[in-house]
Amino acid sequence: KPRDVAVIVGSLRKDSINRKVANALGELAPAGLKLGIVEIGQLPIYNQDGDDDPRAEWTAFRERIRAADAVLFVTPVHNRSVPAALKNALDVGSRPYGKSAWSGKPGAVVSASPGGIGGFGANHHLRQSLVFLNVPAMAQPEAYIGVADKLLDASGKLVNDGTRKFLRGFVQAYAAWVFANVPHRG
Ligand code: FNR
Repeated sequence: KPRDVAVIVGSLRKDSINRKVANALGELAPAGLKLGIVEIGQLPIYNQDGDDDPRAEWTAFRERIRAADAVLFVTPVHNRSVPAALKNALDVGSRPYGKSAWSGKPGAVVSASPGGIGGFGANHHLRQSLVFLNVPAMAQPEAYIGVADKLLDASGKLVNDGTRKFLRGFVQAYAAWVFANVPHRG
């Protein structure tokens, strides 16, 4: 049975480059991984006052993450950091206190930006949160995808072999990471 990977895309934009990269990773993934995007745009902003009577969207999101074997983040950078929608999803999934849905899920981070430094700021700010959330994030290979708007066409198809090769290598390494870190559930 393939491992169930919850893919979180940090952009809410319809034509998001990061969503296209996430879809490309899904197509390049080895048979042992099944990647599926888990939406975050519908999540109300986290408010601790809601812990006792949680919003239905929070509960559904927490249950979906809890059911996953692993998590993969594909995100743009907003002002050198993690987009608010993605940070909100991390916060929603992490609560109520002591009941985080994230804990122990092997993770990886991909950042993509039309800019030259490939979303580095978001990639590393996200890793800071993942340390606390007990998501072991694959260290290598790293994936900072710069000038990303030139690497995919309007339909989301990768336009060069070098990028395809890089993304395939990344998702293969991630598969090995997931298999090394998830207890077999039969
Ligand atoms: C950006 N963008 C951006 N790009 C970058 O390289 N460094 C940055 O600090 C920022 N900051 C930033 C802030 C905000 C609020 C927005 C909306 C955008 C540009 C961003 O990389 C670009 O819009 C990407 O196309 C976003 O990724 P998606 O939506 O295409 O996946």
